Amino acid sequence: MLMSEVKLYPSFQGRDFICMADYTQEEIYQIFEVAQSLKEKQRRREPHPLLAGKTLGMIFTKSSTRTRVSFEVGIYQLGGYGLFLSANDIQLGRGETIHDTAKTLSRYLDGIMIRTYDHQDVLDLAKYASIPVINGLTDLLHPCQIMGDLLTILERKGQLQGLKLAFIGDGNNVAHSLLIGGAKVGMDVVIACPMGYEPNPAIYQQASAIAEATGARLQVVHDPREAVVGADVVYTDVWASMGQEKEREKRIQDFTGYCVDAQLLKLAKPEAIVMHCLPAHRGEEITDEVMDGPQSVVFDEAENRLHIQKAIMALVMA
Ligand code: CP
Ligand code: NVA
Repeated sequence: MLMSEVKLYPSFQGRDFICMADYTQEEIYQIFEVAQSLKEKQRRREPHPLLAGKTLGMIFTKSSTRTRVSFEVGIYQLGGYGLFLSANDIQLGRGETIHDTAKTLSRYLDGIMIRTYDHQDVLDLAKYASIPVINGLTDLLHPCQIMGDLLTILERKGQLQGLKLAFIGDGNNVAHSLLIGGAKVGMDVVIACPMGYEPNPAIYQQASAIAEATGARLQVVHDPREAVVGADVVYTDVWASMGQEKEREKRIQDFTGYCVDAQLLKLAKPEAIVMHCLPAHRGEEITDEVMDGPQSVVFDEAENRLHIQKAIMALVMA
């Protein structure tokens, strides 16, 4: 295969990647296609320096293993350079404005990946930066995660449209991006959460409007068993997200009955796959037996973060 065989789409150039709602279904599939060809190139160890000489700044105000390593390795494999910027070490952490940070970084870098708390900060960064901004997780959304997850489901099931995904847990950033991403690709998404832990109503509404066009059915229920029946994909995430550490004990109580264990999994389709964005709190939202069992694809998801993010970077930063 020649390098020219990785087909990039010019319509992506210079765009931000903040929410899957900003991309059409066709564009989402174009990202999968590029990710699959880059994955194949990497598997064959064929160089693919699509971003030679380009630099990605990676701002983190929260911890990360997968996002940091996959973006850094990803930009390196594309021939570029990844600059880790801990918010503690840059002036942003001492009160320099998002505006001034965006303007300054745009003079040095070719793209910015940011992981932070407030989603508005990412929107502001993108507004003032003249280079693409990629959302590496906010309190509201985690789109790169869900893009990698959908690629994983596509690889395993050969389709996305018409499948049923049951998310068992908190109506959090991952649940929000699953609602929007599922709606975009026509996949049914059922969220099972305790009372008071429902997804953000504005996100649910936004996803429902998208679902109307694609035929996806979205639902929120309060019984994990009801959600899992007939599911092709069973997905879970931590009960206390980053920034909610103080609520952890209360949440452990409130999420009683929401552990994805072998008994719950039996209600899904026999060939159902189990997903978790990681990091997991084993023994809380998922048992060791399920996480390490034959239906689990959690480390494939982690790997696909690399390939999908390389595709996103190559498309928007080329
Ligand atoms: N899933 C995910 O984003 O993992 P990290 O927090 O380790 O980046
Ligand atoms: N919901 C989790 C996802 C971590 C990747 C969090 O925000 O901490």
